[in-house]
Amino acid sequence: MQRILIALLLLSFSTLCYSLPLSTTSRWIIDEPTGARVKLACANWAAHLEPMLAEGLDKKPVGSIARHVAQMGFNCVRLTWATYMFTRHANLTVARSFGSLGLQDAANGIARYNPGLLNLSVVEAHRAVVEELVKEGVMVILDNHLSQPMWCCGDHDGNGFFGDMYFDPKEWLQALAMVAKIYKDTPMVCSFFLIIS
Ligand SMILES: *[C@@H]1O[C@H](CO)[C@@H](O)[C@H](O)[C@H]1NC(C)=O
Ligand SMILES: *[C@@H]1O[C@H](CO)[C@@H](O)[C@H](O)[C@H]1NC(C)=O
Repeated sequence: MQRILIALLLLSFSTLCYSLPLSTTSRWIIDEPTGARVKLACANWAAHLEPMLAEGLDKKPVGSIARHVAQMGFNCVRLTWATYMFTRHANLTVARSFGSLGLQDAANGIARYNPGLLNLSVVEAHRAVVEELVKEGVMVILDNHLSQPMWCCGDHDGNGFFGDMYFDPKEWLQALAMVAKIYKDTPMVCSFFLIIS
């Protein structure tokens, strides 16, 4: 919970000179006006665990984490999310989420470092994290990591795709539509792809 998991997904760094939204040609992601390839260098930031808040916000202000990510040379963050956060817990506040899990120390840390997030809903807080990343020029890949918020992944956690206990295709589509609507005017949110890994 307290750790920010930062994983280098792709080891290629590139210039930040491209226009959004990005385009594709054949297997490549490109900048449409120039046709130049855009290489994503993404850090992973987990926000799909039980409290449904990006990890580490009880330790540092969200803006300083976002700045640090950019300074390390990443041009992108893969920010995870759980389907149920949007379909079942959208109005739960961060304070109540941590409170209901008995995570008082973490809640105190959030009150200290990110007081503005405490009374937001978990969905609003997700958006606030995206906005801080965008401010730093970092693109965001919203990764629908699982259905039920929890640590991921096991072969028998019921949290994979079709046929799994927590996966309801209708609810999944509902969540995808909600996320698309929330972020449709944020071109720095350049994709949401699905990874069950
Ligand atoms: C959140 O609140 C809105 C407005 O009251 C309501 O329409 C929506 O169904 C609620 N969402 C959830 C997941 O409870
Ligand atoms: C959050 O809400 C609680 C209860 O309504 C209030 O006491 C507290 O001052 C609020 N905190 C912030 C940072 O707005």
